[in-house]
Amino acid sequence: MHATREILPGIHWVGGSDRRLERFENLFPLPNGITYNAWTILDEKTALIDTVDGAIGPLFLENLAHALQGRPLDYLVVNHMEPDHCAHIDAILRLHPQARLVGNTKTHAFFRQFYPEAKDVHILEVKEGDRLPLGRRTLRFVLAPMVHWPEVMFTLEETEGILFSADAFGAFGALPGNLFADELDHASLFLDETRRYYANIVGRYGPQVQAVLRKLEGVQIRTICPLHGPMWRKDLHVLLGLYDRWSRYAPEKRGVVLAYGSMYGNTENAVHALAARLADLGTTDMRIHDISKVHPSYVIADFWKYSHLVLAAPTYNMGLYYPMHNLLHEISSLGLRDRTVALIGNHTWSSAALKEMQGMLSGMKGMTVIGMPQDVRSALRADDASWLDALAREVAESAQLQV
Ligand code: FEO
Repeated sequence: MHATREILPGIHWVGGSDRRLERFENLFPLPNGITYNAWTILDEKTALIDTVDGAIGPLFLENLAHALQGRPLDYLVVNHMEPDHCAHIDAILRLHPQARLVGNTKTHAFFRQFYPEAKDVHILEVKEGDRLPLGRRTLRFVLAPMVHWPEVMFTLEETEGILFSADAFGAFGALPGNLFADELDHASLFLDETRRYYANIVGRYGPQVQAVLRKLEGVQIRTICPLHGPMWRKDLHVLLGLYDRWSRYAPEKRGVVLAYGSMYGNTENAVHALAARLADLGTTDMRIHDISKVHPSYVIADFWKYSHLVLAAPTYNMGLYYPMHNLLHEISSLGLRDRTVALIGNHTWSSAALKEMQGMLSGMKGMTVIGMPQDVRSALRADDASWLDALAREVAESAQLQV
């Protein structure tokens, strides 16, 4: 049976949630599932804004049929041609052969790549600023290239200021029936998952997010409708402020994230000894992650949030312990920058981890290494206390000054 919600007169949410999928993009764990949002607009003309992932196809098609109330679909607007939002375009066009597929040049090129067999598709190609009147409501298209993919655009419903924002402002997590951030416990349920989604999915494209935020300055926006997670109709400045900060790679808070890989517990012991000293020195807001155990997407979300990182790992196969190598590769690829970092290595018979961490960090922008990077010789000894004390002082003082 359909499960739709009318979010504004004539505008229905026709998306759905998938609580079974283990990993988004087959990469990112989804302990709380994921939502795929889509909407219909019924006016003199009818429009569907985006579609959904194949996993919730049957429900989506029922939702669409219910929301259209027997009317034909005039426009299918594709803000993002990634398959988690586009699994059912062909089915919809078969059901509504008169519908026009609305997108930009790149949308249509990608459509042809994903649907090489599609025939008799009526395309409506739009450019930056083009308007599409539906009757009482008018849609305006705002290109947002690389706010995940190059074809991405936002659709602004101008009459009531509704921004359909593709992946931007999205979150991991299935919706609990409530659709809007102000009608659910957003701080507990979605804030961390909005940050984890941003850092890992959109994080690389900070300059492009900044560009589209500048384009939207002065635009009257009353509702934000992302393709994943809750919609927003109150306190939009909170969400916009976070996006502005995250896309400038500016930390939200002063605090220290200690991320370590440890084969037998000795590197872990060095991190615990440092963390205890940091706490003694009054450092608050610390997070410790064993990166062999915690998925990197969570560690990376904390790196986005906090000002200071401590990275610790042993030498392994004459190089850097693989999980730390992977983590540094990921943050480099995501373009994380402007963090203050302290480093601890460990080796027994060949030292390479510390040097490799330093080398990888030196290739990233604005990563400032503080303190004297230390290379533990197998396990901490009593005389290691002096460098631990000194490193803790440097990190604590720096963390208390910044942000
Ligand atoms: Fe939710 Fe970039 O797709």
